[in-house]
Order: sequence, then structure tokens, then C-alpha cells
Amino acid sequence: ATVAIVGCPFSGGQGRAGVEHGPNKLISAGLVDQLTSLGWEVHYESQQSFLDIPYNPLPASSPQLSADEHASATVLKSSDGKEDLVQRLPDPDIGRMKKPRLVSAVNEKVAHEVGSIAKKGWLPLTLGGDHSLAMGTIAGTKSKYPDAVVIWVDAHADINTPETTDSGNLHGCPVSFLLGLEGCDVEPFNKWLSPCLKPEEIVYIGLRDIDSGEKAILKKHGIKAYTMHHVDKYGIGKVVDMALEHVNPDGTKPIHLSFDVDALDPTVAPSTGTPVRGGLSFREGHYITEAVAETGNLVAVDIMEVNPTLLDPRSVEKTVAAGCSLARASLGETLL
Ligand code: ARG
Ligand code: MN
Ligand code: MN
Ligand code: MN
Repeated sequence: ATVAIVGCPFSGGQGRAGVEHGPNKLISAGLVDQLTSLGWEVHYESQQSFLDIPYNPLPASSPQLSADEHASATVLKSSDGKEDLVQRLPDPDIGRMKKPRLVSAVNEKVAHEVGSIAKKGWLPLTLGGDHSLAMGTIAGTKSKYPDAVVIWVDAHADINTPETTDSGNLHGCPVSFLLGLEGCDVEPFNKWLSPCLKPEEIVYIGLRDIDSGEKAILKKHGIKAYTMHHVDKYGIGKVVDMALEHVNPDGTKPIHLSFDVDALDPTVAPSTGTPVRGGLSFREGHYITEAVAETGNLVAVDIMEVNPTLLDPRSVEKTVAAGCSLARASLGETLL
């Protein structure tokens, strides 16, 4: 089988720099060879470039540019091989949403990339980057598999709408856009993203930091969520059984796994932008991925919110190693 890695160096869905370095860190840790050793044919040339998106700020070191140019332009290679200067455009808030044009354009690109990989019959493994990217990854999965269901592993529900969000950070909102909740039919997102997910097609595991507006949304739409309370009460084995039974009772539907590493306890995955104590143990997190792999129905995986610029080198190493081993377990690595 073939996996294609989609590295997404993107931080625009939240406010902390550094998460854009997640994909290359996971790759440098040896992920391609690790997946190859599991028997996968791995496609990966380089991470995605979002520099063609004029709302994207430039990386701090763009050697080709003078300091003046840096503020307002970037260098792009056009098809004839010549370099073009592209003006940067401002991206003011729309309502409460921060960087809406950038987040929208990046996710439109990601949706096409993930969709075209899925249409080849390959499994897209997306490396974030912040979790706003799941708008694009799940829209891409749904373009090939309209009946796909989502297992969302996270400390957070990421189901704020442009109206309920307190932070304005769009990494707290991707699920609402996919569901097409009230307030999500807004420009520029509605130019390319139409509602593609039903409330009964998603289940959460690991939640422990849910905003009050999000609680109301989960209740109103009857969305199934297994919080850390449920993990404590039933144990992870039973929780995963119940979660799979909820979204996939006949065991026939394609599964998209969207894993935010902040679902893990901060002692296990410290280098992430919005850590919350009381999370999944290393084994609980891996058990989820192993059990989903065992279904044989997995069609797409996201590993999100690894920020290798936060905390000390040992914390970064732990977090990156956890990201790689979650990816391996999702793609079938077993203990025995
Ligand atoms: N609920 C908070 C917000 O909307 C935090 C979201 C954190 N999301 C994440 N993908 N880490 O801002
Ligand atoms: Mn940087
Ligand atoms: Mn989270
Ligand atoms: Mn998340």
C-alpha cells in the first residue's frame, strides 16, 4: 500500500509561532524510513509551500530579499523558471476570525492535495501545522469518500464558530466549518468549502478543555464525545469500542483519523501550543491509533500541533518522537 505525506508548514490558525516547523521535524526524525520499514511505499519529496498565497507572511529568513522587500514581497519560481516578486496582502480580521483569508486559502490548497492523493487510492498522512488544517484534510477525504467518518482525538473540540470563538483562532473552529454550522457560511471559506460532514459522522476522544459555546453546540447537535472522564471511567479499550460503534456500526465506513498531539498529556507531548493537563497517557494515545489501524478502514491520518520551538530540547524530542510513533501505529505498527 502507498502513503503520501503532506507536510503543512502552517501556523496561521493560532497565535504561537513555530508549529510551522512541525512537519520538517517529524521528517528529520526519520518518519519516511520508519514507514517504509513497515512495508509502505512512501511518497514524499518536500513539504507543501504556501508562499504563493499572498496573505502568508514570509519566513523570517528569506535570503533573496532585502529587508525592505521582505516586508512586502516574496520570491516565487514561476513555470518558466524565472523568479517573480509577489506582493504580500494584508489579512485583517473578519468579525472575530483571525487571518481568515490565509487560513481559507491554505486549506483550499490542502483539500485539493489530500483529495488528489486519496483519489489515487493512496493514504494521505498530513503533518501539521496547526489543527485548522483539518478543514482541508477532511474536505479532501470527503471528496473521495463521501461516507467517511472522523475520529477526532484532542484535548479540545475545535468546534467554535466565527460567532462563538473567544480567541478568534481558526484552529479552534475547523469542525464547525465542515459541519456547516450557523455562522460558518462566510467569505472567503464559502467560496470553496461546502458542508461535507454530518454530526453523527464524527466522534471525539480525549476532550478536557471545551468552551461553553462549544458545549452548547455539542449538545444541540447530539455529537458524541468521549472526554477524559469517560477514559477514566471505562478505560481506553471500551471507549474506542464505543467510539467505533457510534460512527461505524457496520464496520464498513472509511475512517479519517485527526490526531491533535495535545490530546496526550503534556508530560508525554509537551511541545504544543495549547497544552492541557490531565491528558491521554502514551499508551492510551497509541492504543487509539492501533485499534483504528486494526479496523482496516483507515483512509487518512492527520498528526497536528507539534511545535518544535516550544520548551527545552528534551521536551521537543519527546513530542516529535510521540508524533512519529503515533503515525507508525496508525499505519499498522504493532507491539508484537
Ligand atoms: N477552544 C480554544 C479556542 O477556540 C482552543 C482551541 C485549541 N485548538 C487546537 N487545535 N489546539 O481558541
Ligand atoms: Mn520560525
Ligand atoms: Mn487541541
Ligand atoms: Mn485540535
